Amino acid sequence: MFSKVVMVLGSWLVASIAAATLPSTSTSHDICHGLQCPKFVVLNKTADWELRHYEATKWASANVTAMFKDEVGNQLFQYLFQYISKDNAAHTKIDMTAPVVTKIIHGQGPNCESEIIMHFMLPFAYWDSPIQPTNPAVTIQEIPAMDVYVRSFGGFAKDSDYLDNLAKLSGDLVVAGFPIEDAYFFTAGYDGPYTFLNRHNEVWIKKN
Ligand SMILES: *[C@@H]1O[C@H](CO)[C@@H](O)[C@H](O)[C@H]1NC(C)=O
Ligand SMILES: *[C@@H]1O[C@H](CO)[C@@H](O)[C@H](O)[C@H]1NC(C)=O
Repeated sequence: MFSKVVMVLGSWLVASIAAATLPSTSTSHDICHGLQCPKFVVLNKTADWELRHYEATKWASANVTAMFKDEVGNQLFQYLFQYISKDNAAHTKIDMTAPVVTKIIHGQGPNCESEIIMHFMLPFAYWDSPIQPTNPAVTIQEIPAMDVYVRSFGGFAKDSDYLDNLAKLSGDLVVAGFPIEDAYFFTAGYDGPYTFLNRHNEVWIKKN
């Protein structure tokens, strides 16, 4: 009898503590404007960055090698936008999600092109059996669960703004002595091209 009470009390405590300390992994973070977005929890936070744990996620992706994302971003965006606008094996319109995540694997040396991979997250309902793309430039990819350091900023973000924030974020993390992935980083853009208030952009560096 006593042990049963302790057990019930124990699980109530665990549940309450979990509810109090774990931020929700909901799909309705304010920055996503009501669109589906990848689930994460915040593991640590300072005035300049936060550390997030993302669950594994499924994406439609398109990639190209180029010197700069600004040169090829529109082309990659069009490939992915056509995929969600019925240019797919089921001729189905697929809901937009947020953010648009771009992975940039930098080349070695001053004149080397980088691999630039843009991603639209698939709505959760399609994760088990993604609708196949018809354009061979579009592939379905999984991004495994990962922890990323995130620095947020506003405005209309160009390569130079992402790189500025990347430099600040990596500088903070190196000074703090946190091990980070230096072969690639991610940009995340949450707004359409003509949203002009409260724009939200992020750079992500993977925790190693
Ligand atoms: C969170 O970040 C702060 C600032 O760098 C650091 O001092 C602290 O150890 C971190 N906490 C955890 C749990 O990683
Ligand atoms: C780039 O896209 C091609 C298909 O167009 C794919 O075979 C290749 O794996 C992609 N590379 C990366 C790094 O995603």
